[in-house]
Amino acid sequence: MSDPIPRSRRIHFLRDEVFRKIAAGEVIDRPFSIVRELLDNAIDAGSSSIDVHLEAGGLSRVRVVDDGAGMDCDDLSLCWQPHTTSKIDSEDDLLRVTSLGFRGEALASIALCSKLEVVSKGQGAGPAYRLEVREGRQQSLEPCQGRPGTTVDVSELFFNYPARRKFLRSASAESGLCRSAFLDKAVAHPAIAFRLFIDGALKISLPPGAAGQRISLAYGPLFGTAPLAVSESSGPGFTVSVVAGDREVRRRDRRLLQAFVNGRRVFEFALLQAAEFGFAGAVPGGWHPVAFIFIRIDPSLVDFNIHPAKKEVRFRNLSDVHHAVVEAARQQIAAEPASATTVSSFPSAASREHAARHTHVGRELTLPLAPDPVPSPPNDGAGIRFLGQVFGVFLVFELPDRLVILDQHAAHERILFERLSVRAPEMQEMLFPLCFDVSEEEESRLETAGAELIGLGVELRKAGARAFEVTALAEHFAMIPEEALIELIRGVGGAEWQYAFRATAACRMAIKEGDRVDPVTARELCAQALELPVPRCPHGRPIWHQLSEESLRKLVDRPIDRQR
Ligand SMILES: Nc1ncnc2c1ncn2[C@@H]1O[C@H](COP(=O)(O)OP(=O)(O)OP(=O)(O)O)[C@@H](O)[C@H]1O
Ligand SMILES: [Mg+2]
Repeated sequence: MSDPIPRSRRIHFLRDEVFRKIAAGEVIDRPFSIVRELLDNAIDAGSSSIDVHLEAGGLSRVRVVDDGAGMDCDDLSLCWQPHTTSKIDSEDDLLRVTSLGFRGEALASIALCSKLEVVSKGQGAGPAYRLEVREGRQQSLEPCQGRPGTTVDVSELFFNYPARRKFLRSASAESGLCRSAFLDKAVAHPAIAFRLFIDGALKISLPPGAAGQRISLAYGPLFGTAPLAVSESSGPGFTVSVVAGDREVRRRDRRLLQAFVNGRRVFEFALLQAAEFGFAGAVPGGWHPVAFIFIRIDPSLVDFNIHPAKKEVRFRNLSDVHHAVVEAARQQIAAEPASATTVSSFPSAASREHAARHTHVGRELTLPLAPDPVPSPPNDGAGIRFLGQVFGVFLVFELPDRLVILDQHAAHERILFERLSVRAPEMQEMLFPLCFDVSEEEESRLETAGAELIGLGVELRKAGARAFEVTALAEHFAMIPEEALIELIRGVGGAEWQYAFRATAACRMAIKEGDRVDPVTARELCAQALELPVPRCPHGRPIWHQLSEESLRKLVDRPIDRQR
């Protein structure tokens, strides 16, 4: 949990040179972003109990009530203004942020596009105050009745932005997004009591407890019935704990494979990949483990100041963290080796169908990032002996009659490329649509390219004159940095472009030079690479080199001993 705001810290304007260092941008685009920001503030205030009320999916009202540190009259008069915060002061503070907020922007952004009312009382003897702001202007600030803590009430969302209102979805869809934002915060902060009320009815009540209890209560049956297993590992400046669900519950999507860093849910693919890597062997190909990864790390080793909504994180020691997550996930497999192969008691009909197709599941392995099941090689990896990794990029194997030296990146890249080419990708709605400008020529091309893009796994929507936004994306494209993705999309059209698009995605998703590859994954990679119709990477480079036993023996003048 993040530390409460120290009492001595008052709200103040950030100096120009500090706020220029902060990732800028609009963070309020739909009700769930309000839920996320208000919850962050309530958590940062050191609350022990937080209630969220939604009306019409948050479209009519979002209200968050906390019992935290509260604000006095002076603080209230500042809190809604741009660049005001109590959480950081200097540029250096950006390197050691322990609170969820630090930009001093959330309430200001909310105040600009809604009616904002805040009632707050500090822990001291003074009265409570009510602040009212509309269209970015303070309407009133007066003493009132109230208990310690803060209630923030946001209504009339986007009343002054009719265009943005058009992009909002039905109340029930918006409510679902708000609920997910609520659960993300609740799972990250199990010591705080959380309640969610929808249109006046209590829908979720989570008493304070341990992480595992919180997850079970929050996700209930989705998480299976077996007791949750917790495993831990650590490295310099950080600890990792992995809470895994019922081993017989796996999912086709990564909805219940979640990562949290210092109390914040992050969408950092490398962490999910690390967990998948660790669980490989226990989860059949094309399925994803159910696991929650919690990382506590010295704030100076991470940077959240990348994206205004702080959904991205950059680690200074990503490879250490990656290894620790793999390690923690592996411990769980080691603790309970048999159950992953017990496929007869899969709970749902879909799972039963899966079980029927995977009776050999005990031997089936999956590569990290492999989004779909792949046919097992004929000998299921037998006959391929992995000898090791050399120069950080070559995997060396002994086969019955030859030595194979595989380029790990190129091989994985081609395997993924083939898979992207044969299957229509499953798309996921973006939490934050990705908006971009286009030229006149690009605009007319993009207007007619909808079907072609959907075939690849990209859904676009017009977002005004000369602007589009990506609204849904196949999961595997999440690895492509936003700017590169947009450049690719701008160039849409034709078979050559489609090839390049898939090749870029495959390249980004593939294991890289320098990545450690465990023996099980290495053998699977080799078996699949040997089955490829074209043994070259999408850019045309060869994937492997082989040396027959005969040619090796010739080198040392030693004939094959047929009697062996
Ligand atoms: N629920 C609350 N309880 C106590 N203080 C609050 C609460 N909500 C907001 N504040 C005060 O108002 C200030 C401004 O809040 P705001 O959310 O705009 O910015 P922030 O949290 O500092 O940074 P960010 O923009 O990253 O969220 C906070 O720094 C905090 O001091
Ligand atoms: Mg905030």
